[in-house]
Amino acid sequence: MDLKFSLCLVVLLGTCLAQKIRYDGFSVLRVVPKTEKELFALKKILDNNRQFEIDVWRFAGVVGKHADIQVSPKYFLQLNQTLAENGLSPKVTVRDVQKLIAEQELKNHEVKETAGVFEYGKYHTLDEVNNWIDNITKYYPNITTVFEITKSYEGRTIRGIRISTGEGNSKPSFFIEGGIHSREWISPATVLYMAGQMLDRYSADQRIKQLVDSFNWFILPVFNVDGYEYTWTKNRNWRKTRSKHGLCTGVDPNRNWDYEWCKEGASKDPCSDMYCGPKAFSEVEVKGVADFIMKNSKMMKGFIDFHSFSQLWMSPWGYTTKLPPDFKDQDKGSELAVEALEKVFGTKYQHGSIANTIYVASGSSADWTYGAAKIKYSYGVELRDTGKYGFLLPPDQIIPSGKETLEALIALGNFVVNN
Ligand SMILES: *[C@@H]1O[C@H](CO)[C@@H](O)[C@H](O)[C@H]1NC(C)=O
Ligand SMILES: *[C@@H]1O[C@H](CO)[C@@H](O)[C@H](O)[C@H]1NC(C)=O
Ligand SMILES: *[C@@H]1O[C@H](CO)[C@@H](O)[C@H](O)[C@H]1NC(C)=O
Ligand SMILES: [Zn+2]
Repeated sequence: MDLKFSLCLVVLLGTCLAQKIRYDGFSVLRVVPKTEKELFALKKILDNNRQFEIDVWRFAGVVGKHADIQVSPKYFLQLNQTLAENGLSPKVTVRDVQKLIAEQELKNHEVKETAGVFEYGKYHTLDEVNNWIDNITKYYPNITTVFEITKSYEGRTIRGIRISTGEGNSKPSFFIEGGIHSREWISPATVLYMAGQMLDRYSADQRIKQLVDSFNWFILPVFNVDGYEYTWTKNRNWRKTRSKHGLCTGVDPNRNWDYEWCKEGASKDPCSDMYCGPKAFSEVEVKGVADFIMKNSKMMKGFIDFHSFSQLWMSPWGYTTKLPPDFKDQDKGSELAVEALEKVFGTKYQHGSIANTIYVASGSSADWTYGAAKIKYSYGVELRDTGKYGFLLPPDQIIPSGKETLEALIALGNFVVNN
């Protein structure tokens, strides 16, 4: 047990439980494996994550693509040296993680809010997201309804909104999810912004109207509700669900889907951040969303799972670098999306298959929605940034991220409808 934690247990249980984990002096190192040998060495170091108190911000999987590794000050020199010995030339991308956490928190507090008006340019707690769901569905009762997936491991309800105009029954559907990895805060924030715009601008903007009218939309802003709450109250860096597995907590909800489950790019170690779970769909949250999608899958034509960070628009497969038969069409959708996105502020995204663009990952959402639920246009998207702030993106980037991603969605929506 952590010394600080055991000390405060003795002193005062109450304050101790309220205390958030701090990351003073933690840094993030970036390395780029240039050969298969270096990649292999890097993976071995990352697998030994407990030895160096490592938290992987971005995994390594492909030669020539970088990994970002958070390390405690205690192990910095040792890790730096180990990486250097393996030819990996580490560079520091974040000097003090706690400083970025504090900055994000402070700036979020400083965002001015008008009474009774939802502020999209701000990160919101789970309670605030739920209030947003209640408010917006009351505000647009003709075309929105609340949908409930299931209760999470800790008993929170997973909720989203359905937007449906006109003859709902005869239209294709599109499912959008945010916040499957709880620390990736820009994901729920971007999803909320886009959903808000789709509703607020529906009658005034022809392009938005066309996008909204083309599908029945299922929008789930926060998938991993327990993890998300935990990032606000206990540990800003939490990624997984909160289910218990021996001494360790949480399953990676994006390695838990029942399609090529727990092969390459997933871990059987319950303490790993990529733990695939004791079995496929072990997580009630993942099983719940999968069942919901399957129930509606006949009409489901599009699916996007929003993550951060890295600025990538990706399609299946994740479990193998081999390309699926539909890859050309799928990647055409990505290409149109990132072109439209870049036009807004010049933000550059790369696109391609998951395994070839970021790393091999098995049991991920997009592989299942494509492979099992047969949703051809299934995507995994990594939002801003490319690593300067990582998960700790300042709130003044929320609306820009929302604006550019909405343009990508309009371009992709048009493409899917016409295919
Ligand atoms: C970390 O390793 C790099 C590459 O060997 C080296 O240039 C740098 O000085 C090291 N940093 C520290 C603080 O030791
Ligand atoms: C409720 O939704 C409307 C429509 O989007 C919005 O104008 C308003 O600011 C929202 N109010 C709150 C308190 O969220
Ligand atoms: C919502 O319903 C009301 C009452 O039936 C109608 O006047 C209004 O045009 C509808 N709005 C939309 C956006 O369909
Ligand atoms: Zn993620």
